[in-house]
Amino acid sequence: MLFNVCNCVAPAADLGALCSGGAGFVSAMIAAMAAGRRTAPAKTLRGDVPVVDRLAVRMVTDNIVIQFVANEKRDGLTIERKSGNTHPDRPPRTILNGEWGLAMHAQSFAGEVERNVMIDFGYTPEVLLNNLAILNIDPATFDAMVLSHGHYDHFGGMVGFLNAKGSALKKKLPFYVGGEDCFCLRRNPGGNFGALDRKAILDADLTLMMASEPAIVADHAFTTGRIGQTSFEKPLQPSTEFIGIVDGFGCFPEDMPPEKNTGTYIPDDFDHEIATNYMVRDKGLVVLTSCSHRGVINTVRQAMAASGIDKVHAVIGGFHVVPPLGDDYINKTIDEFRDIDPDYLVTAHCTGDRFYDLARASLGDKVIHSAVGTRFVFGPQ
Ligand SMILES: [Fe+2]
Repeated sequence: MLFNVCNCVAPAADLGALCSGGAGFVSAMIAAMAAGRRTAPAKTLRGDVPVVDRLAVRMVTDNIVIQFVANEKRDGLTIERKSGNTHPDRPPRTILNGEWGLAMHAQSFAGEVERNVMIDFGYTPEVLLNNLAILNIDPATFDAMVLSHGHYDHFGGMVGFLNAKGSALKKKLPFYVGGEDCFCLRRNPGGNFGALDRKAILDADLTLMMASEPAIVADHAFTTGRIGQTSFEKPLQPSTEFIGIVDGFGCFPEDMPPEKNTGTYIPDDFDHEIATNYMVRDKGLVVLTSCSHRGVINTVRQAMAASGIDKVHAVIGGFHVVPPLGDDYINKTIDEFRDIDPDYLVTAHCTGDRFYDLARASLGDKVIHSAVGTRFVFGPQ
């Protein structure tokens, strides 16, 4: 399938060269896209927030690999570290891989009911598939998948994953995104940053769920919906976006705000970014923020507002407090976290080392470094 050969990595201007199949091909693709605009309404969060007894979040893809760090038990939290096969003379000769990217697996329990949700897909399918196998995570058990936002370090592994494991997934598996904006073509300062492959999602027989409002995921979780700008934070803009369809990739202009349809690349407002959240019984919210481009404080406050729950137990993911943001910005973020008073901050992926250092100095060991393969279990231990 040409879309998979192209694999979304070509810049808009280069797609014709890399994915060329002639005008007929392009017309056919666009027609297929138009025919394939099927979505299903997400179940909107209204009132009652689902409550789980126990939640285990596993970092499947993350930026760093660590070794020789002991497991830990804390109040309401177990941290399990894992590295893969450390005996190279014995098969399989595989070990967990790190890369620039993020993928998380959330396993939740409410009474006898278990739910499994995959959140993001990292940068490459090779790392994602390698790590899923080592961690014994079976895609056949997935009840939903969520893509936090349209950046390649979060969806880059998706097409290869669907090619390898799509047939094992449950039929019509829900695939949540925060809105049409997620599909737009994007550039980062280095050039092309790819676009999400809508056709691959539909060809895999997933059910595309547009969740611009807070939505219930797999009966146990909820998404934030559109993340408001309620703190000092403004959208961080390392990328630009283009509204329109180019060679079959992109976002439909008629589904986008007219003012964004300028015919050129514009600063990315991450209007579609979402976080996935759980309410753990007697503990509070666990917020899985993937990259926090609309601000990590804004993201947490959105989860609180959407649920009506003020107690935050943990925040996990990429906080994106990175250069050129300096110490003043970092300290403001830490002050806001002191105000919110979560029990745990688990920093992963794009959080930034300087934030980790200053937050750890200020907030103590509630700030925990993540790594590939680490599993965080919340609730009764
Ligand atoms: Fe990221």
